[in-house]
Amino acid sequence: MSTEIRRVAAGDKETWFYMRKGIWPEAPDEYLGYDLDEILASENDAVFMAFVDGQPAGMIEARIREYGEGCETSPVGYIEGWFVYDRFRGSGIAGELTNAAENWAREKGCTEMASDTWLDNEVSIRAHTKLGYEEVERLVHFVKQLG
Ligand SMILES: CC(C)(COP(=O)(O)OP(=O)(O)OC[C@H]1O[C@@H](n2cnc3c(N)ncnc32)[C@H](O)[C@@H]1OP(=O)(O)O)[C@@H](O)C(=O)NCCC(=O)NCCS
Repeated sequence: MSTEIRRVAAGDKETWFYMRKGIWPEAPDEYLGYDLDEILASENDAVFMAFVDGQPAGMIEARIREYGEGCETSPVGYIEGWFVYDRFRGSGIAGELTNAAENWAREKGCTEMASDTWLDNEVSIRAHTKLGYEEVERLVHFVKQLG
């Protein structure tokens, strides 16, 4: 089994879109696709994709943000999205993708990397922790209808 990690290019947009759908299955397609070109053109964003024996296996979206919760420096690297297809999970692909994103953020001058996930996403929380990410804050979102 050979794993290749590389930056996404314009030709990967469809594959990338379906991986986003894997993270946010409830999100409308327009929302999942509206910023792909913007991200590809941005110097502050990097998306890495993993291929196993040539098959798309997963991706990480990283961004340089001015602020990251719990961070002591600015700017910081930020993991915006992280996905590995079921059949490829548990074999270190997310770890390799994270390394690629962290190296990119380091090259951009960042000394900290931050991320977030849902409170009930225990697999993601465990994976973050195993890869050296420390939990710094828990956040609850609220909405009130202004009828
Ligand atoms: C979270 C996710 C990206 C992890 O992908 P993965 O390729 O299976 O992760 P890896 O195999 O690289 O594992 C990374 C570390 O997390 C640990 N880990 C991964 N899955 C785990 C699980 N189910 N239980 C316990 N630990 C786990 C691994 O043991 C590894 O630590 P180690 O290097 O010390 O062994 C994947 O489960 C996924 O795509 N989930 C759905 C989307 C999602 O929730 N994304 C994150 C929120 S944006």
